[in-house]
Amino acid sequence: MDAVQGVKQMSEMSEMDRMNQSDESSGMSESDEFKKEIAAKAGIIEKAIREYLPVKEPEGLYKATRHLLYAGGKRLRPALTLISCEAIGRDWKPILPAALAVEVIHTFTLVHDDIMDRDEMRRGVKTVHAEFGEPVAILAGDTLFAEAFEILAGCNVEAENAVKASKLLADVCVKICEGQYLDMSFEDRESVKEEEYLEMVQKKTATLLAASSTLPAVLYGEGEEVVKALWDYGINCGIAFQIQDDILDLVGKEKIGKDWGSDIVEGKKTLIMLRAMEMGVEIDIYGKGKASLEEIEKAVKRLEDCGAIEYAKSKALQFAERAKESLKVLPETHARKLMEQLADYIVTREH
Ligand code: IPE
Ligand code: IPE
Ligand code: MG
Ligand code: MG
Ligand code: MG
Repeated sequence: MDAVQGVKQMSEMSEMDRMNQSDESSGMSESDEFKKEIAAKAGIIEKAIREYLPVKEPEGLYKATRHLLYAGGKRLRPALTLISCEAIGRDWKPILPAALAVEVIHTFTLVHDDIMDRDEMRRGVKTVHAEFGEPVAILAGDTLFAEAFEILAGCNVEAENAVKASKLLADVCVKICEGQYLDMSFEDRESVKEEEYLEMVQKKTATLLAASSTLPAVLYGEGEEVVKALWDYGINCGIAFQIQDDILDLVGKEKIGKDWGSDIVEGKKTLIMLRAMEMGVEIDIYGKGKASLEEIEKAVKRLEDCGAIEYAKSKALQFAERAKESLKVLPETHARKLMEQLADYIVTREH
C-alpha cells in the first residue's frame, strides 16, 4: 500500500467511525439515524471518488491532486446533492457525477484556500502545499477544478439541462473567487460591517452548498419554484455552515483536523471578531501571523467571555431555521426531513 492509499484508508475509516459512533448503543435516536444515513451517502461518494479519480501519470501531480480528496472529510455537499435529488422524487444514479463534481470543486477551493490562509493541516493530514510545495498545490487545485466539469458532463440527462447545470456550477466558481477575494481584502480593513461579512460568506461558502442542493432540480428540469426553494435552502445552510466553521476555528481544537485559531492569527474578519471589535474587546494576537497555544487559549476565552461566540451561534441558528423554512414547498418526504436535520446538524456539528 502506498502512502496516499494509507492515508486514504485511515481517514476514511475515522470519518465513518465518527459518523456511526453512537449507533453502537442500543436503540437509535433520530440523530443517530440521520448520521447513519449521511454516512451511507458519504460511502457512495467515497467509492465513486476512487472510481472516477484515480492516481495516474504523472504520479507527482496526481498524488498531490488526490491527497485531500482521498483524505476523507465529511462529504456533506455531495451527500446533500443525493438527498436533494430524493427530495424531488428522482433517481440520483444518473446524476451521481454532479454530486462528485461538487465535492471535487470543494476540494479544489480547499487546496487553494490553504495556500491563501497559510494553513498546514486539513482533514487530519498536511495541506497540499505543505506536503508537495506551492507550485504543485496550485496545479493540483487547477486539475481538480477542470476535472469537476469533465465529471459533471457525464450526467445522464437531457443535453439542455446538462448545459444549464454546467453554467450554474461555473457561476458558483466565479462567486467563490469573489468571496475569497473579499475574505482576504477584509484582513487589511479596519472595520467591516456585518452585512459585508454576510455577502462574503454567501459568496465563498454558501453558493457551493446552494449548487449542491439545486443541481438535481436543474439536471432534471424541475420548475422555477422548486429550483428557487432548493437554492434558498442551500444559501441559508451555507451561511450557517460558515458561521459554525468560524466558531469551530476557536472552540474545535484537535477535533477539526485543521489549524486551530488560524482565523485570529491571520486577522480574519469573522462574525465573532466583528462582534468583539464592536464591543471594544482587544485580542493582542489578532492578525499577528503567529501565536502560541496559550495565547490562542487566552484569546478564545476573551471571545467567549464577551459573548461574541454566543452571538455568532445565535445567528447561525437563525440561518438554519430559514433554510428549513425554504423547504416548505417540497412534499413532506423522508428526504425532506433529512434536509431539515442536515440544517440542524450544520450548526451543532463539532468538526
Ligand atoms: C470547510 O468545509 C471549508 C468551508 C467552507 C468552511 P468542510 O467543513 O465541509 O470540510 P470537509 O469537506 O469536511 O473537510
Ligand atoms: C474557506 O473558508 C471557504 C472556502 C471557500 C474554501 P475558511 O478559510 O474558513 O475554511 P477553512 O476553515 O480553512 O476550512
Ligand atoms: Mg479562507
Ligand atoms: Mg482557510
Ligand atoms: Mg475556517
